[in-house]
Amino acid sequence: MISVNKFKLKKRDKQKLISTLNNNWISSAGPEVTEFENKFKKLIGKKYCSSVSSGSAALDVAFKVINLKKNDEVIIPNFTIISSAISVIKLGAKPVPIDCDFYNWNMKINLIEKKISKKTKAILATHIYGYPIEIDKIKKICKKYKLILIEDAAEMVGHKYQGKYCGSFGDLSIFSFYSNKHITTGEGGMVLTSVKKFKDKIFDYKNLCFGKQNRFNHYDIGWNYRYTNLQAALGINQINRIEKIIQKKKKIGKSYYNKLNKLSNIYIQKPKIKNIENVYWVVGILILNKKMTAKKFRNELKKNNVETRSFFWPMNKQKAFNKYNIKFRGNFPNSEYLSKYGFYVPSGLNTSQNDINYVCRCINKIKKKYNF
Ligand SMILES: Cc1ncc(COP(=O)(O)O)c(C=O)c1O
Repeated sequence: MISVNKFKLKKRDKQKLISTLNNNWISSAGPEVTEFENKFKKLIGKKYCSSVSSGSAALDVAFKVINLKKNDEVIIPNFTIISSAISVIKLGAKPVPIDCDFYNWNMKINLIEKKISKKTKAILATHIYGYPIEIDKIKKICKKYKLILIEDAAEMVGHKYQGKYCGSFGDLSIFSFYSNKHITTGEGGMVLTSVKKFKDKIFDYKNLCFGKQNRFNHYDIGWNYRYTNLQAALGINQINRIEKIIQKKKKIGKSYYNKLNKLSNIYIQKPKIKNIENVYWVVGILILNKKMTAKKFRNELKKNNVETRSFFWPMNKQKAFNKYNIKFRGNFPNSEYLSKYGFYVPSGLNTSQNDINYVCRCINKIKKKYNF
């Protein structure tokens, strides 16, 4: 089976992990956590950063430190990971989802202003699947309405938009280090900011809000979202080679694009649109003919030993929210289409040119078989 997203670690990553283990720094304290954080914030270009246990934890912390509470609203993408909505809901606030663009799959920026109300406190701008959202435009909207910008760059470590690193635009920004991300430490995440008043709060909320005078008399309700020194050890050398990682991802994406973009009824994103470069965190395929669903296509690929993954499920269609009678107003035709007709193909750092050639041959074969 060609795996959909196989991570790639080098010998020196593993050696660093072993030496850290031998030095007995196995929990969240330790020199590697500090080194990893310092390197990471320098790369992205933010003053402060704090590692956490996952990208989802990073979202929880980000919304907590802006003091999001009951009756507040947050604009979020409808087509994204569920953590985005859950982090808002857990604080008693209301996510207000926006449909995605049919072609770039990011939140549709021209729909945002219509959804802003007196209750809106923040906008969550997420870069989806490797194609940067035009975050400068969202920043302008935030300025106009005095809203906080939270940038979800979970899938974008090391990639740039208009010459600046993704994750450097938000008042707060977050990343993930799950095994399918550009830098992986198994699990993990990061919250970054240059705003001083957020900095200490980030550290406290990820660390149970320990008391300042009496350590175990906690001053607020926080979480244990700490990141371990062992995870940090695994990540340090990956930061050093991030540019190579980014080049490899772009190469994989371009190669698929060159082989598939001429096929009728198959849409694959361009490597570059209007000077915005795609890093292809994952290489997504959108079927433009309703004769063939993603589910059916994926099954056919599976029979040919090609592992794939379905696209995100839209927030407005989530079972989890139905269960609690949480409803989102509006129409979301693009995200609903994407969830039915979109899927992604093997595009991890270990995907070889032979794998890509084989997957593309299979796609051609299936298209011919079903004649669409
Ligand atoms: C855009 C986005 N944000 C946040 C997350 C959450 O990250 P994690 O899986 O580390 O919790 C993900 C996960 O893939 C994601 O794609």
